[in-house]
Amino acid sequence: MIEPSGASDPTALDEPIADVEVTRSTDDSPVESRSEVESRSEEDDPSPVEQAQPKPPRIIALANQKGGVGKTTTTVNLGASLADLNYRVLVVDLDPQGNATTGLGINKQVLDETMYDVLLNKLPIDDCIEPTEVRGLFVAPASLDLAGSEIELVSAFSREAKLKTALKEVENEYDFILIDCPPSLGLLTVNALVAATEVMVPIQCEYYALEGLAQLSRNVALVRENLNPGLEIDSIVMVMYDSRTKLAAQVVGEVRSHFGDRVCKNMIPRNIKLSEAPSYGQPVTIYDPSSRGSVAYRELAREISNGV
Ligand SMILES: Nc1ncnc2c1ncn2[C@@H]1O[C@H](COP(=O)(O)OP(=O)(O)OP(=O)(O)O)[C@@H](O)[C@H]1O
Ligand SMILES: [Mg+2]
Repeated sequence: MIEPSGASDPTALDEPIADVEVTRSTDDSPVESRSEVESRSEEDDPSPVEQAQPKPPRIIALANQKGGVGKTTTTVNLGASLADLNYRVLVVDLDPQGNATTGLGINKQVLDETMYDVLLNKLPIDDCIEPTEVRGLFVAPASLDLAGSEIELVSAFSREAKLKTALKEVENEYDFILIDCPPSLGLLTVNALVAATEVMVPIQCEYYALEGLAQLSRNVALVRENLNPGLEIDSIVMVMYDSRTKLAAQVVGEVRSHFGDRVCKNMIPRNIKLSEAPSYGQPVTIYDPSSRGSVAYRELAREISNGV
């Protein structure tokens, strides 16, 4: 048993979050891929109206204002694993560092159009989307100039809803849209939270893992109250888990005591292949499909997509 969190507990929340409601989406039904929806025969579904309405995508913001906790690694590899399950997946890189972009094999230096143009110059998002090596996985790339958008957006009309508006144009094309957020709670992350249908928080199994989570939860609540009703932290993914250390088990216990079954059953182990893969511009599912990291993200994809 883990002792209740106290002031000296390094894994303790920096502030209580008891007042922040955290609930899982009530829709547990499996998500059909776009192709499945389209290929459904009339006998299966006699209603032509329903048939013509593709299911809206699940738009998942991967957020945690702590740096280096596995947001990008999870976005890229969960995205690739969902695509391997035949879902059509778009990764939106909303981090000026562009790590998801390079991690998916796109050379930022040669890009003419990126998410900067989508957010600031009204470029249709479809015009910047690039295919990746993984069938069914696409990326809306970032470049360094996205850093300036935090300031440039301040005076823009409807500045918090730029991404939401942009995604409307392509939402019928994808089953999942994963948004890789920067390590801050600025306007880029707010845009992700406004566009999202759910929030996934990767948490590192380390000291101070829960630091800043109260603030993130508060921001999610603020966005829910003002801009995106129904938004919740739906899932917590424990990453860089090392089963040999007592600390990792303690951190997982602590996180579970706060978030209950919002914590994904599948944890991502610390695995060198996961840190090597980005320098080859590949998800781990291609770089080393049989590695523990790859297997873990495939399992997570099955869990997140409700076993379909
Ligand atoms: N499970 C893992 N095992 C080993 N290394 C990992 C694992 N997950 C992530 N890493 C490595 O940890 C570092 C940080 O991961 P990542 O870039 O995904 O975090 P991030 O939250 O996106 O960071 P930032 O806040 O800077 O955007 C990277 O070098 C990555 O390769
Ligand atoms: Mg990142």
